[in-house]
Amino acid sequence: MEPNVLMAEARRAAERAYAPYSKFRVGAALLCEDGSLVTAGNVENRSYGMTICAERSAIVKALSEGKRTFVALAVSCPDADYPVSPCGACRQVISEFAGKDLPIHFAGREGTIRSVTLGELFPLDALHELADR
Ligand code: THU
Repeated sequence: MEPNVLMAEARRAAERAYAPYSKFRVGAALLCEDGSLVTAGNVENRSYGMTICAERSAIVKALSEGKRTFVALAVSCPDADYPVSPCGACRQVISEFAGKDLPIHFAGREGTIRSVTLGELFPLDALHELADR
């Protein structure tokens, strides 16, 4: 699947985000090994720290549906004037279920897609990689 197609799904998911506090909507679209797509938005809470990012929402939703192997992830943030990449907590969670080659595409309002791998965003996995040295 082309990154722009996956990004369009992430953009649609951002419309369904629940972000009344930050007004910073984020959408994520996960392409699964079986060819299916799982999408989610960020879900905020009036107790701010309970907020769940779009990326983690999508991972949890996919795992809950029995999907455990992922091919690509797109993140869309229509409220940012720059491409928004996954936060540190999300990088950790993504790394639990994907290898370093997972392509991650991200975009802001204007839509230009930046593409990196999980390994670029999360180069040293403390629990795994360092144990092998
Ligand atoms: N957020 C995400 O959902 N994903 C990101 O990659 C960046 C941050 C959410 C968390 C919070 O609801 C809002 O964006 C502002 O930080």
